[in-house]
Amino acid sequence: MSRDGMTKSFWENETSKEIINTENVGDYDHIIVGAGITGVTLVKELQNRGYKCLIVDKENPGFCTTGGTTAHINNFFDSSYDEIISDFGEDAAKNLAQAAKDTLQYIKKNILQYHISCDYDECSFYLFSAEEKQNKKLDDIFGALKKVNIDTIQTFEIPFTLPFQKAIEIKGQAQFHPLRYINRLLKEYQKNSGEILTGTLVKEFENKDGKVTIKTDDGKIITGKNLIWATHIPPGANRFSILVAPYRSYALTAKLDNPVHKMAQTADLYDPYHYIRYHKSNGEYFLIAGGFDHKTGDEKATDSVFEDLEEYVNTHFKYKEIVAKWSSQYYIPADGLPYIGKMPGEDNIYISTGYNGNGMTFGSMASLIIPDLIDGKETEISKLLSPSRIKPAASAKNVITEGFNASVHFVKDKFSSEKIEELNTIKNGEGKIIKHDGKTFAAYRDHTSELHLLNPVCPHMGCNVVWNPAEVSWDCPCHGSRFDIDGTLLNGPALSDLKEFDSSEH
Ligand code: FES
Repeated sequence: MSRDGMTKSFWENETSKEIINTENVGDYDHIIVGAGITGVTLVKELQNRGYKCLIVDKENPGFCTTGGTTAHINNFFDSSYDEIISDFGEDAAKNLAQAAKDTLQYIKKNILQYHISCDYDECSFYLFSAEEKQNKKLDDIFGALKKVNIDTIQTFEIPFTLPFQKAIEIKGQAQFHPLRYINRLLKEYQKNSGEILTGTLVKEFENKDGKVTIKTDDGKIITGKNLIWATHIPPGANRFSILVAPYRSYALTAKLDNPVHKMAQTADLYDPYHYIRYHKSNGEYFLIAGGFDHKTGDEKATDSVFEDLEEYVNTHFKYKEIVAKWSSQYYIPADGLPYIGKMPGEDNIYISTGYNGNGMTFGSMASLIIPDLIDGKETEISKLLSPSRIKPAASAKNVITEGFNASVHFVKDKFSSEKIEELNTIKNGEGKIIKHDGKTFAAYRDHTSELHLLNPVCPHMGCNVVWNPAEVSWDCPCHGSRFDIDGTLLNGPALSDLKEFDSSEH
């Protein structure tokens, strides 16, 4: 498996097979955990600044969200600028807009400097209202985009066969092939003696006397001045377990019959929204569609979501064939903006998380923030996105909603004693949480009819996992840890696998 699920994303055939692991590890300036867009971009940037770094990943680069993104780079976000102005003020929103523009230029500079062939294209984004009641929201977004100096115009045409009432064209967007991009950056990093460990889980860490020590699952003990968690929610019990909520998103890629004259991206204003973009790769044209997002663990029939997405695409577009369907996980921050910077209360630890659906942009923006902080330079954007920030009042609703959601799961998992369900109701290829005689277990029946029983208690903080039929995995609804059918850890913040079911323990 080269990604954290059974479905195969459009990008996965590019998974790097050429990574050579570092043989002897030693002492580093910076240890970066997580080789997605955030970790890989950061490690290259820090190397360029003369630091000796190590990047560690439990799997292969791009195994988690970077391998499952729809790979758009935008100068606006899922939290719209009217909301950001209202919650954080106009100056802050302008700073963020400028940082987004700088981020796009930074990605482009990397692509040019390292000659990265990654289907990079620049284009406009067409945001539209599909119903009259969405018009005001579109007007508010348009007004705010103008205020923060993002080049935007009203338009009466969009380059997609979608019905709409009003539309705006937001200029200055981009898109690429995310795995080609990070794989090439990593190659450049290794070419310059950069060190990497893949297939290596960081099991323990300690921050003491100005030094960080990590212990890996194969027994390596490695030290560094700083540790950067580029793994979404950092492991352990910390405030980000409450401030960041995991969501699932669905995507498909359809090959088009005819060339597209100009690359473009679009979305409507439904909640959750539908998102579409064109993509050109190796002389062929594709349509990438995404949407139908839900909180991890909340959707019971995750496999039927693909049918809904396909129906949406069939209704609005002509295409040759669907070449990929996949789902992926992302993380919504409590107050709408990501947390990038120093871990609160820790001098040598940094985090970058809570990107919402804008992971390519914020994951790259981390390289404009964290290296500066390490070098002692605090900027307006680092203050705005600081993980220690005091959240404005307007964000409280989100904090409470998401925090409450996690708490409800937590309490219910601990104290519920629901009725028995018969094991033989589980079909081949299906998983179920079974409660019987006061015992709870996660049961999966494989395609040879054999049953696999696991203890459903997530090793992170004790919530019960739920079944995800789309990706054939056990997902934790509290903070998004995910596990394979045999209990193997796919995504943190948990640091260990689900245990096998032991009836004497329950
Ligand atoms: Fe936190 Fe499972 S991810 S309890």
